[in-house]
Amino acid sequence: MINLKNIVQSYIQGQTSVKVFDNLNFSANKNDNIGIVGPSGSGKTTLLNLIALLENPISGKIDIAGIDCTELKVEDKADFRKKNIGFIFQNNQLLEDFSVEENVALPLILQGDPFKKSIAKANEFLDFLGIVNRKKFKPGLLSGGEQQRVAIARALIKDPLILLADEPTGSLDDENTSIVFDFIIKLAEEKKIITIFATHNLNLIKRLKKCYKIQQGDLVDM
Ligand SMILES: Nc1ncnc2c1ncn2[C@@H]1O[C@H](COP(=O)(O)OP(=O)(O)O)[C@@H](O)[C@H]1O
Ligand SMILES: [Mg+2]
Repeated sequence: MINLKNIVQSYIQGQTSVKVFDNLNFSANKNDNIGIVGPSGSGKTTLLNLIALLENPISGKIDIAGIDCTELKVEDKADFRKKNIGFIFQNNQLLEDFSVEENVALPLILQGDPFKKSIAKANEFLDFLGIVNRKKFKPGLLSGGEQQRVAIARALIKDPLILLADEPTGSLDDENTSIVFDFIIKLAEEKKIITIFATHNLNLIKRLKKCYKIQQGDLVDM
């Protein structure tokens, strides 16, 4: 389903080139839930961004659902992302001009679903995640953990083919981490969403089917 082959990625920082991936290979299939661990700066976010087609590798191939994605035009990548990918960003990236329920409903509204129906579905997710009482607030008024739950609801609302979660429970306390993590895994299993978690939390990793560590620009089994 997802196939990354011989990925090389590096960035220019000032005068030096920082190599993040050197010939990295990765694959995931339907129903997989996969953990990616590695210290800060090892390339977890870079890997998720590559799968989300948010950045291009220097070289290598990204194949998703039989499509050679590295060959797609920018607008086709955006279209592909809108249809297939749910992303929980490390810093949430909620829109301050919209209320919590509107933020969550936005992926549905953008794909043309009726406004009221979209808001109703958003409310179901918010209810499940225990923050429906915040639905009319602007995201900035919520705590870090609450904002994270809004971002999770927004990423899952359209049943994406792939869910990419960048440290999705980083600002939750232990109890909520467990609840939210179980919710994501259960829903992903039900809907057969391929889920890839980047996380520091080794306790969470234990509950996943596969886990890789980023080490010297490649992925190694854990
Ligand atoms: N857009 C960018 N420009 C320059 N350097 C970058 C960029 N994105 C990531 N990097 C560098 O690539 C490395 C991996 O970053 P990242 O994927 O964010 O790591 P992680 O998510 O594991 O903390 C870091 O050294 C980071 O500074
Ligand atoms: Mg990161």
